[in-house]
Amino acid sequence: MKQISRSEFTERRQRLMEQLAPGSIAIIPAATETIRNNDVHHPFRQNSDFMYLTGFAEPDAVAVLIPGREAAQYILFVRDKDPEREIWDGYRAGPDGAVADFDADDAFPIDDIDDILPGLMEGRTRVYSHMGVDAGFDHQLMAWVNQIRARVRLGAQPPDDFSDIAHLLHDQRLIKSKQEVAIMRDAAQLSARAHKRAMVACKPGMKEYQLQAEIEHECMMGGSPWPAYPAIVGAGDHACVLHYVENSATIKDGDLVLIDAGGELEFYASDITRTFPANGRFSAEQRTLYELVLRAQLASIEAVKPGASWIAPHEATVRVLTEGLVELGLLEGDIDTLIEANAIKPFYMHKTGHWLGMDVHDVGDYKVGGEWRVLEPGMVLTIEPGLYIAPTNTDVDARWRGIGIRIEDDVVVTRDGCDILSADVPKHPDDIEALMAGGQPRLL
Ligand code: GLY
Ligand code: MN
Ligand code: MN
Repeated sequence: MKQISRSEFTERRQRLMEQLAPGSIAIIPAATETIRNNDVHHPFRQNSDFMYLTGFAEPDAVAVLIPGREAAQYILFVRDKDPEREIWDGYRAGPDGAVADFDADDAFPIDDIDDILPGLMEGRTRVYSHMGVDAGFDHQLMAWVNQIRARVRLGAQPPDDFSDIAHLLHDQRLIKSKQEVAIMRDAAQLSARAHKRAMVACKPGMKEYQLQAEIEHECMMGGSPWPAYPAIVGAGDHACVLHYVENSATIKDGDLVLIDAGGELEFYASDITRTFPANGRFSAEQRTLYELVLRAQLASIEAVKPGASWIAPHEATVRVLTEGLVELGLLEGDIDTLIEANAIKPFYMHKTGHWLGMDVHDVGDYKVGGEWRVLEPGMVLTIEPGLYIAPTNTDVDARWRGIGIRIEDDVVVTRDGCDILSADVPKHPDDIEALMAGGQPRLL
């Protein structure tokens, strides 16, 4: 399986340090384990910012970057070696491993951080960290500063400028490297296989969670340790609930099934949605609305290219859907007036995509200086238009009610357009029907 190389982690830290103010220090904590009950923890997954900079997946660690320092510029605090605990909980790299295998210039036991870190902060003018994300960490950071303040009369110089590192770090994470794109392509291809398997397995009478199991089995067999987010498997009316995660109902003949699921590989997410008929054949109404969403999705993908505005794909979707709903009689009026008034909102209430990366709703600003961001090569985003005709919507003809559709792909901006990472899973209705009937889809 592909992994981010050690030299790329080094390069990431160097690039971030070049952005930091002279005389500053950056302090970035790892995630901590959370207790589920007694001595059982929730599954641990490293914090993405920490992982991005260190490649170090253990809990209870802190990374420190001190740009321009003569001695160590990259310091890791990690759990100390503990043969007794390691018998129960597994291997720990310890400070020696942090230096030997993770390229820290220096490393210390995390239990010694209160004694060592204030000394590293002293004389530094600015502290970069996450602000207001974890109250416990904010408190600890101030306690370290106060340790220095307590010694001011002895000549200690506490930092007096505190900056959120999120902006600089997240701008860096927004543009994916070749290695990152290669892993994200693998994650999307694995999840695409899983979606195809669920389509083929689907039969009326099954439970929604049984399709979730098909998806998660395929992803895990392919090396994904956990889903990138909780799978949504919504049959019938449930497809109209945007974040439906109960996945407990019986799938009925005549239902559309919406599956929004993706595996994570090497800390990179995929995020794919497909909607298909439980019995393998779209009804006339289902196909009509499905083809409209597909037209919107293709128009939005067409709008993804360098130099285009972040909002262009969303605007393309809103236009295609609004025109389509007017043609079908679900909306009435002048197209531009309807778009201006966001008349589509009862049927389409979310944006057409989001950044994708280590987090499913990945980091990175959507606006810069009050303007929508301009797309650049290496940005990865989802394109996920949908239509959701609530079962309770009595403003529309009964035949449309309870139809929920979303089609979601993961795309990377390239030098001359974009590349669809999740293209392996069919989305044309004929191809979906062919796959479900045991045939081979012709991929769009
Ligand atoms: N799976 C959540 C989303 O599509 O944004
Ligand atoms: Mn999704
Ligand atoms: Mn998404």
